[in-house]
Amino acid sequence: MSEPTSAQTFIVIGASSFIAKAFIEQACHQHAGQQQQNLTVAEPLQIITISRQASIKLPELMGIELTDCELTGNINHQHFNCDYQQASIEQCVTDIAAIAGNVTRIVMCNGILHSKNQHISTNEPGLMPEKRIEDIDAHSLEQLFYTNSIVPMLWLSALTPLLSQPRHKVSGEQKCVISILSARVGSISDNRLGGWYGYRASKAALNMLIKTTAVEYARRLKRVKLIAFHPGTTDTPLSKPFQANVPQGKLFTPAFVANQLHQIMDSIEPDGEASYLDWQGEPINW
Ligand SMILES: NC(=O)c1ccc[n+]([C@@H]2O[C@H](COP(=O)([O-])OP(=O)(O)OC[C@H]3O[C@@H](n4cnc5c(N)ncnc54)[C@H](OP(=O)(O)O)[C@@H]3O)[C@@H](O)[C@H]2O)c1
Repeated sequence: MSEPTSAQTFIVIGASSFIAKAFIEQACHQHAGQQQQNLTVAEPLQIITISRQASIKLPELMGIELTDCELTGNINHQHFNCDYQQASIEQCVTDIAAIAGNVTRIVMCNGILHSKNQHISTNEPGLMPEKRIEDIDAHSLEQLFYTNSIVPMLWLSALTPLLSQPRHKVSGEQKCVISILSARVGSISDNRLGGWYGYRASKAALNMLIKTTAVEYARRLKRVKLIAFHPGTTDTPLSKPFQANVPQGKLFTPAFVANQLHQIMDSIEPDGEASYLDWQGEPINW
């Protein structure tokens, strides 16, 4: 395990997500570019990734399989494997606290809409979004709520003490921006089409958990900004079965969305509130 560092640290949770990988690639490119152009002092960048996968492969970075390694251009990477049970998340955060520098960006990408996986205990088939009320299934709802609402909240809960530690505490000019991938369909006020009960409800629950966390952060962690982020329909495995009716030009690449997210996170300032934003940085009604 590496020693603690004074680097700027980005933490990416659910790092096998196509959007997450594009976010990491762009962070690396931006950092390398800044160094080449000598725009900033050569501060190291530390990228910490977490996933159920043992390693993360970044296609644009020449297919480098990222385990723990030094990347080029003063960028360091550590990867943690996690099954997203509460004890594993807490252990991960303990390990991260020992090596992390100044945590300035956290992105949580975990989310499911459909799944081929059978339920572990019942062998129920995988889930698909409900079209009508008779499709409601307890095990599907459990999976959706666990992955989409509970997992991000467990991370927020475990990371809060880390962000409060003197060594990692964000203060003064420095900020930490946390983006959690939500979805517009989680907006209660925007629900006109109906359907997709479990996905909608789990993202609405996620939004409420983020808003509630922001109320506490306004007292405890004033320099931490929380964003519930809607990426727009993006070409990833999650949206694959539902891409047929997406209007032309409205199916985004992960690279486009990651670039938008970087810009939003770079420019937004902590204001004591959570923001629910789309890929353009436009607010969505909760
Ligand atoms: N693509 C879209 O059109 C779209 C639209 C609106 C919102 N979003 C949201 O964007 C986020 C990123 O999704 P994506 O489009 O990049 O999809 P993706 O490439 O399919 O990524 C799936 C993500 O979900 C995690 N995941 C999958 N199964 C899980 C499980 N059982 N337990 C815990 N985590 C699990 C993966 O984490 P590991 O790295 O651990 O595997 C990965 O982070 C999701 O929250 C999604 O709801 C996507």
